[in-house]
Amino acid sequence: MITAFRACLCGALLCTLFIAGCEQRTQAPGASVTLDPDTPTVLITGSNRGLGLEFARQYAAAGWNVIATCRTPKAADALQSLAEEYDRVVIEELDVTSDIEVRSVAAAYRDQPIDVLLNNAGIYGTLEKQTLGSFDFEELKRVFDVNTIGSLRVSEAFLANVAASDQKKIISLGGGMGTPTIGRMFGGHYFMKMSKAAHLSAMGTMQTDVDDSGIIVTMISPGRVDTQLMRDSGWTGKSISAEKSASLVIALIAALEPEMKGRLVMYNGAITPW
Ligand SMILES: NC(=O)c1ccc[n+]([C@@H]2O[C@H](COP(=O)([O-])OP(=O)(O)OC[C@H]3O[C@@H](n4cnc5c(N)ncnc54)[C@H](OP(=O)(O)O)[C@@H]3O)[C@@H](O)[C@H]2O)c1
Repeated sequence: MITAFRACLCGALLCTLFIAGCEQRTQAPGASVTLDPDTPTVLITGSNRGLGLEFARQYAAAGWNVIATCRTPKAADALQSLAEEYDRVVIEELDVTSDIEVRSVAAAYRDQPIDVLLNNAGIYGTLEKQTLGSFDFEELKRVFDVNTIGSLRVSEAFLANVAASDQKKIISLGGGMGTPTIGRMFGGHYFMKMSKAAHLSAMGTMQTDVDDSGIIVTMISPGRVDTQLMRDSGWTGKSISAEKSASLVIALIAALEPEMKGRLVMYNGAITPW
């Protein structure tokens, strides 16, 4: 009798937790929008940590509307605190590898001009799996899905929003590893290099396609920045803080020159051939 009662209680508890979880997951994108129509807007992918979080923080502090997207809002404590501090920071769940999530957020914001679309989400992948002799091609697909396809998928989905804005900028982070100059300086790291080379090609091609609409597509290399991604790369040399890098990149985005269209630009403004 007692055992049956306990089983019933556990079942009810599990049911309640399940429903609560579903409610959290199924909150409609755009549900908490408080964006100011007279203020420029940035959409950032992967904004829960590292450079993405710094971009969100600095654009918010500068008074922008910030659509801060990340894979798991529930676990994005620092981002949640930022949204509590600034009314114009809205958090949306968006995994850049998910067609459904990207389409759903794009639909919720279809009438929202986006001045700067910041493709920031990225992964390094596991080093051993991209080392000659121990390639794991499932890992290659995973790295491509985020770094290359993710940027393309998000940029395509929000193209009309960028075209409808005043500033019309699509910025994709990284690319140095994909260039012959930097990429061939050292061996290994195949998947990261390949994904960033393809990313340069994809975004460079997009610039040609959107030229007539006035959209600027630029890839920006943020430097060696002290984040989890840098640690995943095995780099132990000099680095700059995410705060410093993000401030330089934001200044560069604000002052993009026409010759930077479709190009890879270092955080100090130097154009890098690829
Ligand atoms: N750090 C450097 O030295 C350096 C140098 C050159 C270029 N970059 C570029 O800078 C960008 C930001 O990197 P970071 O250094 O700030 O790295 P990080 O601290 O590791 O942050 C990576 C971000 O990407 C997100 N992300 C990963 N997979 C995702 C997915 N499928 N969908 C959405 N978001 C996803 C992560 O979210 P989760 O927490 O959910 O995993 C995290 O927010 C990357 O594109 C990277 O290639 C960095």
